[in-house]
Amino acid sequence: MTDMLALLEDRRAAARLGGGQRRIDAQHGRGKLTARERLDLLLDHGSFEEFDMFVQHGCTDFGMADTKIPGDGVVTGWGTVNGRTVFVFSKDFTVFGGSLSEAHARKITKIQDMALKARAPIIGLFDAGGARIQEGVAALGGYGEVFRRNVVASGVIPQISVIMGPCAGGDVYSPAMTDFIFMVRDTSYMFVTGPDVVKTVTNEIVTAEELGGAKVHTTKSSIADGSYENDVEALLQVRRLVDFLPASNSAGVPVWDSFDELDRVDPSLDALVPANPNKPYDMKELIAKVADEGDVFEIQEAFARNIVTAFGRIEGHTVGFVANQPTVLAGVLDSDASRKAARFVRFCDAFGIPIVTFEDVPGFLPGTAQEYGGLIKHGAKLLFAYSEATVPLVTVITRKAFGGAYDVMASKHVGGDVNYAWPTAQIAVMGAKGAVEIIFRGTDAEGIAARTKEYEDRFLSPFVAAERGYVDEVIMPHSTRRRVGRALAMLREKKVEMPMKKHDNIPL
Ligand code: HXC
Repeated sequence: MTDMLALLEDRRAAARLGGGQRRIDAQHGRGKLTARERLDLLLDHGSFEEFDMFVQHGCTDFGMADTKIPGDGVVTGWGTVNGRTVFVFSKDFTVFGGSLSEAHARKITKIQDMALKARAPIIGLFDAGGARIQEGVAALGGYGEVFRRNVVASGVIPQISVIMGPCAGGDVYSPAMTDFIFMVRDTSYMFVTGPDVVKTVTNEIVTAEELGGAKVHTTKSSIADGSYENDVEALLQVRRLVDFLPASNSAGVPVWDSFDELDRVDPSLDALVPANPNKPYDMKELIAKVADEGDVFEIQEAFARNIVTAFGRIEGHTVGFVANQPTVLAGVLDSDASRKAARFVRFCDAFGIPIVTFEDVPGFLPGTAQEYGGLIKHGAKLLFAYSEATVPLVTVITRKAFGGAYDVMASKHVGGDVNYAWPTAQIAVMGAKGAVEIIFRGTDAEGIAARTKEYEDRFLSPFVAAERGYVDEVIMPHSTRRRVGRALAMLREKKVEMPMKKHDNIPL
């Protein structure tokens, strides 16, 4: 018996060594942790239960029969994050460059199936060279099996991908179908085809960083939802995110103890909106002052910064904040902002996370660049996302709510449940000057000034909308947290039935 125990320990130790000490040292030399070290940081101490530690590939081509490494390039299993179950797989770059074989894929699909059955989030850590070249089509088949499960699980359990090294070829599409992608700066990159292929096909010369580094994907392509300085920071931030997320679409939002009084008033909010309507102010200040303990987790912070999307909590319950940001492009809605917010709204709706919208939007961004780029369709994505949402929707108009953007941003008309406005709100078809110049074309400057004043007095206030019941109440800015929190509590059991359909046809 003792021999058998010793044998097990030996085999475990060999598996834990992955591709060997030399490759582990090389991994550390690049500033990266190993697959197992990453899981140690991601999961609660001692909670990791590993599966399939001894799985090996079955490939015999190109001398592979003689090179078998237990685990086959991916560490899989489950554990807990602050006591809540999550399923994990972590690519081991020290074993065949983390490349995906048929056996490697089966390990991942087993975890995907279990996560779906157990209705718990799944987190994939990527650091790999794509399909196992020696296996050819068997690897491609494996990818297909992983992809299909990503889609089946979408909207049922949260799926998170963290890119911590190379992620190319077949490896990119699984993360792309998950809910969130995070990258590590300087050590990770994602692309379908690498710099060499790019040069051959298009004659462009680019580095891996320029083609698919964290900066590119968080600021230009919007593929990634955030980037972090190193492995440790990335994994700790993913733990924070998991704390905000429901385990599944039927679990309800997690509720954590909060020491922040719901009744907390914040007099500084009464002075947040400047007297000059063209002067910006930071909407993130409002989010931080409304959320429990000011604790928020921003999604896509570096992309389309004219809109803010973030998770936070009120009375310990997770909420999604969507807010126009007046400090960037005056908070205008453009294609990027619309897509960014639409995806966030749909995530929240799929997982039963109530949405709090803070609105200060001068309209949609005019111009050929926007129109040629499909502003109509991208703007419609956000309109669609809000309109189909059945989760509680609480909206506060802080200043401008102009034109179509007024309708889009969770207005009463598209399904807003409780819609508040601050006394500084201006709810109108457009700004006063533009409106008057159209209605009173040909009038002299003095006349325009007089009419502008008249228009401002009549329309640039919350009261015309309030008179119609389009806003439920004009509230004091300092009491925003209490008003929003009470509305959310009132809506906690909200039920809305949408007509039966196979699925909708959101303008993609
Ligand atoms: C088998 C691989 C591998 C792969 C790397 N390795 N990629 N083994 N299949 N795809 C092995 C290497 O042989 C090496 O083994 C070890 O991993 C580390 O690789 P290095 O090249 O030494 O590391 P580095 O210099 O850091 O370069 C990393 C890399 C490079 C950029 C990822 O390895 C690379 O370009 N790999 C090939 C990428 C690729 O073209 N993949 C196929 C994509 S096609 P030793 O024993 O020396 O340590 C694809 C199609 C699927 O994925 C489409 C489905 C939809």
